[in-house]
Amino acid sequence: MVSDDLRIWLNHFEYHAEHPRCVPSGLADHLTDEEQRLIASSIATFQLGEQSEGATLLRAAQRFARTHHLPPLVRIVELFIREEQRHAPLLRRFMEDHRIALKSSHWTDWVFRRARRLAGLEFYLHVLICAELIGKVYYRALEAATGCERLKVLCRTLVCEELAHVGFESQLLLALGASRPGPVRALMRLAHRTFVAGAAGIVWLTHRAVLRRAGYNLRSFLRSCLAQHAFYLEPTTGAIAHTSAR
Ligand SMILES: [Fe+2]
Ligand SMILES: [Fe+2]
Repeated sequence: MVSDDLRIWLNHFEYHAEHPRCVPSGLADHLTDEEQRLIASSIATFQLGEQSEGATLLRAAQRFARTHHLPPLVRIVELFIREEQRHAPLLRRFMEDHRIALKSSHWTDWVFRRARRLAGLEFYLHVLICAELIGKVYYRALEAATGCERLKVLCRTLVCEELAHVGFESQLLLALGASRPGPVRALMRLAHRTFVAGAAGIVWLTHRAVLRRAGYNLRSFLRSCLAQHAFYLEPTTGAIAHTSAR
């Protein structure tokens, strides 16, 4: 990633730090009992997954920026973390208003957190972007599964920010991998694609009620998640997957 790209991302995150996206008040906010039963456990798990201190990511970015002489990267990651940290309270406020219980732990959240700590920046980003690519598909499904206007706008807000996050992370990951020999890149892509497929399978198992309501079955959900992966991280096939990933 050249310094011009980093400047653009810095401008982007600085602008949105000064003008944070929010869910407007006054939207219709009715969740039926049936909808509440359908989404309560699922939304609570995602709300838990959105909670992050970001300390491991920031440390990894600081180390990486020092080694590769990319000082703007640290500021971008700080702003990125701050933006990400708004997601959990946005979901929490909605849940509290609808008396949906918060979760303090879930095994899928534990696995993702442990995995992110295993290595440096690149590995962290691979795990993070996997969660966000699947999260984009999930929040769109949640939007489709409810008639509650406030929840719909909340989902759109989250998707909008995750779009920028995966854009930034994928550009960085592609730049990091660019100097590797082609076969190594292909192997890493395959490994990451397999990881995304496995994670999407687990998300299907644990959130299938919401996903089914949005019209997904296991196959179409996996296809949507892998189309996201292709669009952002497999540049040669990504153009083909463009239509289905968006
Ligand atoms: Fe998020
Ligand atoms: Fe994000």
